Amino acid sequence: MKILVTGGAGYIGSATAEALLNAGHAVTVYDSLVTGHRQAVPTGAHFIQANLEDSHALAETLTLERYDAVMHFAAFIEAGESMKEPARFFRNNFTNSLNLIEMAVKTGVQRFVFSSTAAVYQSSESPLNEDSPLGPTNVYGETKLMTEQALRWFHQIHGMHYAVLRYFNACGALPGRGEAHQPESHLIPRVLQIAQGQAKEASIFGTDYPTPDGTCIRDYIHIGDLVSAHLLALDALKEQDKLIYNVGSGSGYSVREVIDTARKITGKPIPVVEFPRRDGDSARLVASPEKIKKELGWAPQHSSLDDILSSAWDWHTSHPKGYE
Ligand SMILES: NC(=O)c1ccc[n+]([C@@H]2O[C@H](COP(=O)([O-])OP(=O)(O)OC[C@H]3O[C@@H](n4cnc5c(N)ncnc54)[C@H](O)[C@@H]3O)[C@@H](O)[C@H]2O)c1
Repeated sequence: MKILVTGGAGYIGSATAEALLNAGHAVTVYDSLVTGHRQAVPTGAHFIQANLEDSHALAETLTLERYDAVMHFAAFIEAGESMKEPARFFRNNFTNSLNLIEMAVKTGVQRFVFSSTAAVYQSSESPLNEDSPLGPTNVYGETKLMTEQALRWFHQIHGMHYAVLRYFNACGALPGRGEAHQPESHLIPRVLQIAQGQAKEASIFGTDYPTPDGTCIRDYIHIGDLVSAHLLALDALKEQDKLIYNVGSGSGYSVREVIDTARKITGKPIPVVEFPRRDGDSARLVASPEKIKKELGWAPQHSSLDDILSSAWDWHTSHPKGYE
């Protein structure tokens, strides 16, 4: 298939683009490099450096070639930032997605795979399944939910097949591919940067959550497992017209548990400083991934905390400056 990958210079998009190439697909990466890295775009992919808000570049890209599928990863991803600059997030994550969906429909794209997030759900004590109550606690989650809703209507009106993958926390590394966000706010790369002496201490936001050790609990999914979910969903869209799946390991770990495992794997002390809760964070987000397991035969294979942290530690020690 001929596949357009937006955000294919970023962490998850570039790893998926590489897997698509390995599976024999032709891949075009469309990325402005606003947070991505040119070096992360896999060899063998055609690269277009352009912003999704550039309607001319977008229209040209989708009309010069006929794409069978679009995989849409491009977005701003910092939930905390979204509570400071909501307009920036609505514009990039929703308005630009809407333009892309519209152009995909206009140019006859048959399959659309969208990177959504666990942040579309309300916080819950029990594992979240696809029918759990929706209710983003931050603007980032809201922008993703709005895009999901736009996809649902475009599907209903125009028939484009689509899959929504609601990722939990993507993490870990594949050979030569790791997390290199700038600035880095994700917990695992942050604590590993501290272990490397690149930052002083880890911040824990909130120690009074109703969880066993008082810190937030999250579901961590290894990048390799996330990539395999994309390939399965893309394939399933041949027959299925509409798919929505949680992609998480089903296990929840607290911030303190992650930091303790990082100390064990790296052998470094990793000092922490505790702060009050942050706006928009919820106590617990853990997936029930039963639906994707049952329907697509997907299963997480690399998502134990030890596997995640040791693969990420390998990446950080071999790429101390990320993709530079
Ligand atoms: N990382 C996670 O844990 C996680 C969890 C849930 C959902 N997601 C979603 O997965 C997707 C990828 O996340 P990631 O961690 O790889 O982020 P990333 O920042 O590494 O990648 C995003 C890419 O999109 C590009 N981009 C952003 N806005 C663009 C625009 N307007 N035009 C063109 N390119 C643009 C950036 O340059 C970057 O290469 C995002 O949609 C994110 O919301 C990520």
